[in-house]
Amino acid sequence: KRSLVLSAPGKVILHGEHAVVHGKVALATALDLRTFLRMTPRQDGKISLQLPNLGSQLSWEAAELRPLLAAFSVELPEAQPPSAEQVEKLKEFAGGDYGHEAVQSVAAAAFLYLYLSVASKYGVLPTVDILVWSELPTGAGLGSSAAYSVCLAGALLFGCGAISYPLQEGQETARWTKEELDVINRLAFRGEQVIHGNPSGVDNAVSTWGGALRYISGQISVLKSVPTLRILLTNTKVPRSTKILVAGVKAKLLEFPTIMEPMLATIDAISRECEGILEAMTKDPSQEHYSRLEDLVDINQHLLNGIGVGHALLDRVCQVTSSHGLHSKLTGAGGGGCAITLLRPGRFRRGREALIPTY
Ligand code: PMV
Repeated sequence: KRSLVLSAPGKVILHGEHAVVHGKVALATALDLRTFLRMTPRQDGKISLQLPNLGSQLSWEAAELRPLLAAFSVELPEAQPPSAEQVEKLKEFAGGDYGHEAVQSVAAAAFLYLYLSVASKYGVLPTVDILVWSELPTGAGLGSSAAYSVCLAGALLFGCGAISYPLQEGQETARWTKEELDVINRLAFRGEQVIHGNPSGVDNAVSTWGGALRYISGQISVLKSVPTLRILLTNTKVPRSTKILVAGVKAKLLEFPTIMEPMLATIDAISRECEGILEAMTKDPSQEHYSRLEDLVDINQHLLNGIGVGHALLDRVCQVTSSHGLHSKLTGAGGGGCAITLLRPGRFRRGREALIPTY
């Protein structure tokens, strides 16, 4: 039997990280770094998951998973969010030698959650070998977990016959239909919930739909008129946990609502302002628009530091690029991970030269 190979991109958030978790606007765009999945049918009654980026290899007998099915009677696409108890149980089940909180256990728990959800809905336990590999660094703010969840959702829905095989005779690549991508996106969000606790859904939306998106409270709109922006991505390689950073912002919001709410509202205003500027730039690519975009990058970076998701090395990227006339901010959850630097036409080389001696 033939294998299915599919892929989904990572993302960068231009503006709106963290605020988006609290119902504000985020602007994000897909990256040309992708996660790939290969699914091959197996005849020996086993289901295996290979994640070479995490050095993990797990397999289960279908008969072993069958008793868990009852706990996952879900109705897609309105599947219930995973309960904390289900997630704990799956991490325990999947963890094996890795330990409960290890990234390998969390990734396997997300796989099992999606697998069991789809299997319970469609009444089949496909015996497959799943291999997922990625060009995206893990935990760097580039949406690697969302791309993983999107790939798994697409493959498992296909494996259960819920969505079609999109490739026509003679074609090399294809996309699923809008309706099928919508189901994939909703299921992928459940995978993100297993991994991150309380994600906004922006990462899986960008990874599913591609392109540049505006995202607010589950509402996705594709930004049709966006100029080509050159952005330099710097990975500080400081590991951090999105789940812990998101929880930290929530704790501050509960403790200081009158201080934190206006900060999140200002981040929302920055995303909206940026959207207007991007639209204006498609009609008139003048340098003046760049100055305004750069101001927004600086203001947001200060606000993100203010809400507690900065890091000394992210500040360092901002300082170094600023001494070359460039403007940077963190992207994604912060606390380490990646920074983006806006590159004006004519200053492309400056950004690279600024950072190469430092990192
Ligand atoms: O760093 P990442 O790729 O996990 O991005 C997280 C973006 C947040 O806004 C911080 C969280 C979310 O769920 O939107």
